[in-house]
Amino acid sequence: MSSQLHGTQTFDKSKRAELKFSDEAMATVQKIKSSYPEGKQKSALLPVLHIAQAEFGGWLSPETMDYVAAVLAIQPIEVFEVASFYTMYNLKPVGKCVLEVCQTSSCWLNGAEDIVNYIEKKLNIKVGETTKDGMFTLKVVECLGSCGTAPMLQCGASYHENLTYDKIDSLLETYRTESRQRNYTDLDYKNTL
Ligand code: FES
Repeated sequence: MSSQLHGTQTFDKSKRAELKFSDEAMATVQKIKSSYPEGKQKSALLPVLHIAQAEFGGWLSPETMDYVAAVLAIQPIEVFEVASFYTMYNLKPVGKCVLEVCQTSSCWLNGAEDIVNYIEKKLNIKVGETTKDGMFTLKVVECLGSCGTAPMLQCGASYHENLTYDKIDSLLETYRTESRQRNYTDLDYKNTL
């Protein structure tokens, strides 16, 4: 049974009932939770959302956010408020590779807009869209802290800096031939705590 939520998302009770972290992920979640005093589990929300995104298909569905709320004993709206604020959390399904182009000052001054236009044309999608084959999603984000090597983009855990059209051609080609996911969740959360 589904009920309508914000935008086009629905909440499916049967999907929600099926959600469960793997034993390994749950062990990590419990370890993170134990870093905070009783009643302050909300402090664990950011890393737990990364784990949830990694575990449940690369995005945070309404059911996933509800599950995370239950695990941390907080309200679902508290999860949504955080998940909808940060661009590294995907609130709709994404492609295998999420290209996040920085559009802040240094990158903008060094041609970020041209880079975005180039990728849009090359992949035949607009910002926020995913290619028909499910391979690439294009996003624009704010400063990724690599201003000295602008323009740049992030894909998964990798930074691509001093971008040129040739570099973009080459990285898209490389990613097409890989079998791994490259959205933000390809970070190995076990080694980033
Ligand atoms: S302005 Fe693009 S990384 Fe800082």
